[in-house]
Order: sequence, then C-alpha cells, then structure tokens
Amino acid sequence: MNQQTLCYTRMYMAKNVKRLYSSFKPSHYDVKMNIHEDKRNFNGEVVIYGQKTGRPSKRLTFHQKGLKIQRAEVVSVSKKDAKTIVPVSRIVRHESYDELRLHSEQPLYPGQYIVTLEFSGVITKNMDGIYPCFFEIDGVQKELIATQFESHHAREAFPCIDEPEAKATFKLSLEHASGETALGNTQVTTQVINDNRTITTFDITPIMSTYLVAFVVGELSYREALSKNGITIRTYTVANQIENADFALEVAVKAMDFYEEYYDIPFPLSKCDFVALPDFASGAMENWGLITFREQTMLCDEHTSLGTKQYVAIVVAHELTHQWFGNLVTMRWWTDLWLNEGFASWMEYLAVDTLFPEWELWTQFSVDEQQAALKADALEFTHPIEVPVHHPDEIRTIFDIISYQKGASVLHMLNDYLGAEHFRAGLQHYLKTFAYKNAETTDLWRSLEEISGKPVMDFMNTWTSRSGYPLLSVTADKDSLVCSQQRFVTNPQSKARKDTTLWPIPLLAKELPGVLVQKRTAKVPFSKTQTPLLLNQGLTGFYRVDYSHEIQELQTNAIKNGQLSDIDRMGLLSDGFEVTKAGYQSITDYLELLEHYANETKLPAWEIIASSLSTLRHTLALNDGDDSLREAMKPFVKKLTSRELKRLGWTKQTDEKHLDTLLRPLIISLAASADETDTLVKLQLLYNHKIHDNTQIDPDLRATVYVTAARTGGQKEYDELLSSYIATSSSDEKLSITAAMTSFQQSELHAQVLALLQTKTIRTQDLSYWIAYCFMNRHSRRQTWQWLQDNWAWLKKVIGTDLGFARIPVYVARNFTDEDFLKEYTTFFESKMEPVIKRSYEQGLEIMQTNIAWHQRDAQAALAWFKAQQ
Ligand code: BES
Ligand code: ZN
Repeated sequence: MNQQTLCYTRMYMAKNVKRLYSSFKPSHYDVKMNIHEDKRNFNGEVVIYGQKTGRPSKRLTFHQKGLKIQRAEVVSVSKKDAKTIVPVSRIVRHESYDELRLHSEQPLYPGQYIVTLEFSGVITKNMDGIYPCFFEIDGVQKELIATQFESHHAREAFPCIDEPEAKATFKLSLEHASGETALGNTQVTTQVINDNRTITTFDITPIMSTYLVAFVVGELSYREALSKNGITIRTYTVANQIENADFALEVAVKAMDFYEEYYDIPFPLSKCDFVALPDFASGAMENWGLITFREQTMLCDEHTSLGTKQYVAIVVAHELTHQWFGNLVTMRWWTDLWLNEGFASWMEYLAVDTLFPEWELWTQFSVDEQQAALKADALEFTHPIEVPVHHPDEIRTIFDIISYQKGASVLHMLNDYLGAEHFRAGLQHYLKTFAYKNAETTDLWRSLEEISGKPVMDFMNTWTSRSGYPLLSVTADKDSLVCSQQRFVTNPQSKARKDTTLWPIPLLAKELPGVLVQKRTAKVPFSKTQTPLLLNQGLTGFYRVDYSHEIQELQTNAIKNGQLSDIDRMGLLSDGFEVTKAGYQSITDYLELLEHYANETKLPAWEIIASSLSTLRHTLALNDGDDSLREAMKPFVKKLTSRELKRLGWTKQTDEKHLDTLLRPLIISLAASADETDTLVKLQLLYNHKIHDNTQIDPDLRATVYVTAARTGGQKEYDELLSSYIATSSSDEKLSITAAMTSFQQSELHAQVLALLQTKTIRTQDLSYWIAYCFMNRHSRRQTWQWLQDNWAWLKKVIGTDLGFARIPVYVARNFTDEDFLKEYTTFFESKMEPVIKRSYEQGLEIMQTNIAWHQRDAQAALAWFKAQQ
C-alpha cells in the first residue's frame, strides 16, 4: 500500500458515518423555500416535527450541506401537548459530516420536538441539490430551476434527516417569479400572487423518503391525459419541445394502467408529472409524482431513431415502476439499492413488452442487460449485489451494472424459478406488507417464499451476497452429464479464479426439468440419445456454460439446421466468445463457431457477432499503427454481412419486423467498418444529400452515415458536423454527431474536439460521453489521455459529483493493450486516488491485464486465421 492509499484509507475510515435516524425520527416537515430572482440564491424555513430517541443528550443533529443557518428554535412537546422552548446555545455546522448540530445547555430528553430552522444557500451548477437548467427560446437565454436529491442531496436544499429510512410527510411552499410554472410532488393547493412574486403551496405528501422530494420552477409547457383510474398525467417540456412529448405521454398512461393492475395497488397520488429538463446528470429520476428526465430519454420526434424511441418507453416504465417499488416501499439503506434499481430494470421490460409485444423486448433484455452484467461481473473487482455502504460518498459508485443489470438478471432467473404468477403474487404481498415503510432484501425473499412455498432465500442468497457467477463445464459420459462449476473470471491472473463459492444453478434443459446443481461437480443422469443438449435454455440463468467438444459439435449442427431459438443461438455465441477472452479456448475455436452463423438472420445473435468482431479488432491489433489485423478481417466481414445486406436493403418496408428495422443499421455499419465499397458510396451519398439539400437521413442510419463521413473525411466534415450539432434541437441527433465527431483520423481534428469540450457548445451533462468516445477512437486515444491528465482538476470541478466521473478510469483502460500504458495509467490514477474512482480504477487495471494476456495468447493466431480465409 503506498502513502497515498494509506492516507485515503484513514480519511475514509474516519468518515464512516453514524446514521442520524437512530437518534431522531422525523414525522413531518413544513418547508418554505424562496428562490431568489437572480436564480442563484435561495432561503427558507423548515419546521421539523419528530421524535428524539435514545439517551438524553445536549444536542440534536440534522443533515445539511453548504447551508447558512440564520436561526434555530427547539420546542419540546410534552405528552399532554404542552410546548416548552429549549434554548439553543450553539449552532454548529460540521462540514465533513454534512451535519448541523444544535447544542443546548439543558439536557434534551427523548420525546417529541418541533425544530424550526431558517437557512439560506447558493444555487450551484453541478446538477444536484437545487440547480439551474439553461435553454434558449427564439434566441432568448432562459433558465429554470430543478432539483435532484437522490442519493443524499436533499440536505443541500434544507436541513433534514437525509436517509432513506427517515420517512416523513412534507408540505412545501415555494416562492418564485410570477408567471413561472411551479411543480412539486403533489397537486398545488393555493397560489398567492403578489406582483412579480408568487407563493405556490402544494398538498401534503404521503410518508416518503427525503431523496424523493422534488420541485421544478420555470417556463414550461405541458400536455395532459387521464389514466383509467382518473390520475392526471402530464408531460412537461420547455416551450419548443412540447410536441415531442406525446409518445412519452402515451407510454406513461398505458404503463400507469398496467402497474395499477399488476401490483393491485392504486397509484397513491392524484397526479403524476413527467418533466424533460435541458440539463440533467443521469438519465431520469423517479421523484414521487414528479418524475424528471434528461431530454434525450423523454422526447421523440421525426429525428429519433427506433432504438432511442424504445429507450424512451423503457425509461418511462422504469421510473413509473419506482413509484411503487422504491417510493411506496423503500430500501432501508443504500446497501439494498439494488432492490430499487435491479427490480425497476427488470420490470421496465415486463411493462414495455406488454405494451409493445411486437418489439420482442425480452430478447433485447438478454443482450442489453444480462450480457452486460455477465461481462461486468466477470471481473475480480466487481461487488456483490448487496454491497456494504458505509458513507454516502460511496453510494454513487454502486449505481452500476451490478445493481441494475445483474440485479435485473437474477430477478429474471427467480421469476422463471417461481413462475410468473407466484412471482407477481409474492411482489404484491411484499408491497402491501411494507407500503409506506422500508424493507431489506430478505423481506422480499420472505414474501415470495410465503406465497410460493419455495425456498427462495436458499436459492437467491448466494446470487445476491457473493461477487461473480459460475462457469459450468459440461461433459457427457455414457449415461450421465458431468457438470462442474467454478467462478468465471476473465483475467487469467486473478486470484478470484480460486474462489470456492458454490452457486445453486438451475440447469434449464428441456430434458432435465427442475434440476438444480450446487456441488463442485455434479453427475446428473442423462442419456446421450437426447442430444443435442443445451443448458440454460431461454437464458434465464445467470451463468455461462463451457461444453465438451463432443456436445459442441452436435450443437453447431443444430445452429445450422435452425433447431435452436434466436435467444439460445445468441447465448451460445456469447458464451463462446467470453470463454475465449478468458483463455478457456483459443480464438480459432471461437472463429470456427462463428462460421456456423453464416446464415444468421436475427438481431440477438448479430449483436454478439458485431460486438465480438469489434472487440477482437480493437484488442488484438498488433501494435499502434499496425493495421494488418484490421485489413485481414475486412474480406471476412464483407462476406459475412453480404446476405443480410441484400435481404434488408436500405429502406424500411412497411410491414417489416421491428427487429429487422433494428438489424439494418447494425449490418450496414458492420459492412461500412469493413470498407465495403457499395455501402461506403451509399453512405457518402446520404451524407451529401443531408449537407447540401438538407434531406433527412433515416434516423436509424444517421449515426452510421455521420460516423462514416467523419472516418473518411477531414476539416470540411468536421465543420459541417459541428454546425449541425449546434443547430439541432434533437438530443438524439446530437448523440449521433458526438459519435461522428470523435471518429476522425486526423490529430489536428482531435485537438479541436478536445478544445471544444471546454466550451459552452457541449453541455456538462454530455461531457463524459464525449470523453468515453474520444478514448474509443484508436487515433485519438493517446491525445485524449494527455488531455485528461492536463485537465483533471478542471474535470473534477465540473463533473466531479456525476456518475460519469467515477467511470472515467474504465473508459480509459478498455482501449489500451500495452504494458507501458498500464504503468502510465497506474501512476496517474494513484496520484489522483479518491473513493469515487477507486473501484473503477481497479476494474480498469484488471481489464487491461485481461486484454494484455489475451493479446499475447491470440493476436498472431487471429491474424493468421483471417488471412487464411482470403
Ligand atoms: N434512481 C435513478 C436515478 C439516479 C441515478 C439517481 C443515479 C441518482 C444517482 C433512476 O431510477 C434510474 O435508474 N435512472 C436511469 C435510467 C433507467 C432507465 C435505467 C439512469 O439515470 O440512467
Ligand atoms: Zn431506477
């Protein structure tokens, strides 16, 4: 351990904070807030009703961060309701603990108190607490004020007990400029207008956690609809975006009806607003009755790609399901964050699949959620789903693939294990039992157990309490199947490969219904005549399988003969690729498997084909500047894509399958990456039409058109793309242009991109995407690395509290495969070490080690294989 790490550990230990809820339990807050005319300052008064518990002491402690406290009054309330003022002798702000301590000369006995605090604060731009959003209407600069309190930023707005367990009711009054719309968690009850100032008061909220309190003030437009049960649903946007919220509104209404029925619990409020904010740190936030979004995750117009439209539906469904799962029943502490996020990440699919069955969303779940989780959780420096959290500063780092995607994946497995009806009835039981309260993971298992009669706790415990997941190695002998398990870790050097955890694994084979193995090595009776054998059918299990050669051969024939389902073909290929990366088989084994997919026509398997080829090309290139592998792959990729290219063509057919519409851009971009001549010509043509005649490009092809123009273009294309970026109001189009502007080959253009990052053209909310993309381009990764080191302090200042900042080390590491760089990486990040980047730094190291080892094993073999194909 070096000096730096030592210091950091010590500081960190000291910050292992005590929970304030253990000594004060608030029941109600009256909050008055005044947003000043300059929109940079606020002041307010909060009256907190609650109960002091524990031993008598001479102080009361609340959370606050960055607030000035002008006045404090403590009133003790006797059992007979007699009120006595307890003089406050000192008001102390304890900054490193985010605390406010009210000291008294007299002992404060356990019992009821009413605490009044007057405070003021500054509105800062870093998109949490109370913050401004900037936008322009008809050339006029405007601002609106919004809040983001999850995970622990309510304390930046008003003093409170800012922990999820400290549930209370809230009554909010907001003073703001007249003429502006003010939104809160609940309906407006009164509005008092006094010239240019208005005081808007909202109805009292249900009992809820502080992180779900929210308000928005500013010039907003809305559209409205009613749910089946008469709940008013509105979508709000800035004025010039309002017609782009109709799709979100349609999904919101349908999803509301779906959830009320699925949970058998009415939505607890009388209204629910969905607000698209011009500046927003994450994707969306489930504030109770006032859900907030970044524009990209809520708005759709004629420039929106199908993928983004699907994502809008998913985000709406995700945040709406939190209104029950998260808001009505809340995790007791952040350790169980996954209960909120993993659950919502599963339920969003169930809801949207019901609303749009033609989207075949569960196959996309397997690729987008489950495969992402399997990759992330194959690292040694992953974490268990249930993760200890000692200090709120750590919370940010666990809003990650493990809490979301692995959480969703193990619930998917459980849903299959229990059956959909028991799963649903168990959830209803859980929500009804813990409504307006808090719960832990074991509470959910107990509810599901009570309803289903199955040993849920035993089945799930290992999956949620241990890091990683198993690789099941399978061979068949005469009359049995031999299955042995070990933890699957991609890095061959990792000591986690020796992990002795044993998971209960459902085999999920048609021929072996209900079989669960939990031994290191298990023998299952099985007759060989039943082959081709396929385990984890439908991919509901969270594990990978490595089959013996013999079994594999039968499977590959089945692939060719179309005997395996779309999702199972995808699973086989993905398992094949990941075990290759991890060194369990050679790259030629994988490429031979891939050859059996020559006739593939379905999206899920194609997603794996495309991503595995791109990873292979990216990681196994021989040296910086050596394009031999890249060149050798081109003829293979051209041949592989030619059938589908012909079948799908360039234009969407009126009655084509949804998954074909999603497949087309993927095939075209694969062909373009192999420099397939006709494809390049056609893409160039589309680009020129757009630039010269302003002809709309099919939004699904737009990213490929722009990226190809940049990859093969220069300063002229840079200027054109930059003007389009500035001109468009579509955040989806902006994202495509981001991919393009970071795809140039010329170093002077990279320099221009890097300079752009520090200008107003790029919103702070988008900065981490730009950085991630700059690193992905092999021509700009070195320059970006230099830029990152030179500008670290600036970056920390502007996005230091965002999730994107915590992920930067991984964004860097996944693009380098040389030992020398590994040293530079280590030196730099160790000198900048702090809790939020620690895990990402360690994961980055591990990713590089894995890639370096893979490169040493397979780079030459891959090159030789592709060359031999020509
Ligand atoms: N509760 C989160 C938002 C959040 C994330 C708050 C991180 C604080 C820190 C919300 O429900 C969420 O999960 N949003 C996702 C989008 C979702 C569809 C996966 C997000 O922001 O990416
Ligand atoms: Zn969520």
